[in-house]
Amino acid sequence: QSFFKPIQNTAPPSPTKRHTKISVIGVGNVGMAIAQTILTQDLADELALVDAVKDKLRGEMLDLQHAAAFLPRTQILSSTDYSVTAGSDLCIVTAGARQNPGESRLNLLQRNVGLFKKIIPPLAQLSPDAILLIVSNPVDVLTYVAWKLSGFPSNRVIGSGTNLDSSRFRFLIADHLDVNAQDVQAYIVGEHGDSSVALWSSISVGGVPILSFLEKQQISCEKETLERIHKEVVGSAYEVISLKGYTSWAIGYSVANLAFSILRNQRKIHPVTVMANGFHGIEAGEVFLSLPALLGRGGALAVTNVHMTEEEAQRLRDSAKTLLELQRQLDL
Ligand code: NAI
Ligand code: LAC
Repeated sequence: QSFFKPIQNTAPPSPTKRHTKISVIGVGNVGMAIAQTILTQDLADELALVDAVKDKLRGEMLDLQHAAAFLPRTQILSSTDYSVTAGSDLCIVTAGARQNPGESRLNLLQRNVGLFKKIIPPLAQLSPDAILLIVSNPVDVLTYVAWKLSGFPSNRVIGSGTNLDSSRFRFLIADHLDVNAQDVQAYIVGEHGDSSVALWSSISVGGVPILSFLEKQQISCEKETLERIHKEVVGSAYEVISLKGYTSWAIGYSVANLAFSILRNQRKIHPVTVMANGFHGIEAGEVFLSLPALLGRGGALAVTNVHMTEEEAQRLRDSAKTLLELQRQLDL
């Protein structure tokens, strides 16, 4: 006799309800922050974790499973074998080397390209319809690498990009003005990191365009404050890494937010790493960097025609050139 006595003549489950599966590759600080944030959002029916270190992987899986009584139901699996990821809707890649204090993201490139050659082909083969969301650094160049190695169309290969930098920017502006960061619309685009470009002319707070407001009031010292805030954004990760060794919580929320927009087809605009060729005067080649993109179930669906001054557009093209140069040196 089984534990349950079945109810007779039940209808089969509705065929319109899809089973959603997310895989997270790499269960370090970043992978686990993303996994736990995703669990709180009731976003996936199944969460598969992969890492190269077997004991740590099983320990992390068990630790998450033990929170089941406090969370929406999600089946959590793990394995060092990629077969556990088969049939994923979204694969989030966080595996790889991270920066030592003071080290730049670009310095990680060679080490992480080597890992991606082992990670991306099996992921793409086992989940041919998935969207790949790349987080490992340097995220822009690695998104290009994942696009090449997967053979996926570019709308299904996205990097977390400057969604995080833009959140840091919004927090600092909000903190300065003492308002809610969700009322601050502000984008950082370009490279996630040192050459990122702040789009000053599109910043608005509660619908008020900040720059023209400041110009009308002739508050020039506030412009300097904004410049200082952008410098602080660029230095943010370096500061956190020098203090605690790595960054994790903000990237966890940032990526879970992207996963939500994609899987729940939110058609929300996020600054993320996409194939930038043909947008905003970037014509130099197949380069990946962050632009404000419309995200939905099909991945990156469009790039918004956000206003850029000529100086901003030039800085973006310079950022594209730097990244393209790095891409060209790769042996894929
Ligand atoms: P971590 O060292 O804590 O974790 C990395 C994990 O990758 C480890 O668990 C390791 O065992 C695993 N790994 C290594 N080789 C693997 C392989 N071949 N297959 C599967 N797993 C493998 O590092 P952390 O702090 O989690 O950072 C991970 C990456 O995320 C770094 O590249 C870091 O720079 C990047 N990052 C990116 C951010 C962004 O905004 N794009 C923000 C924060 C970090
Ligand atoms: C960040 C990582 C290190 O937190 O790229 O910005």
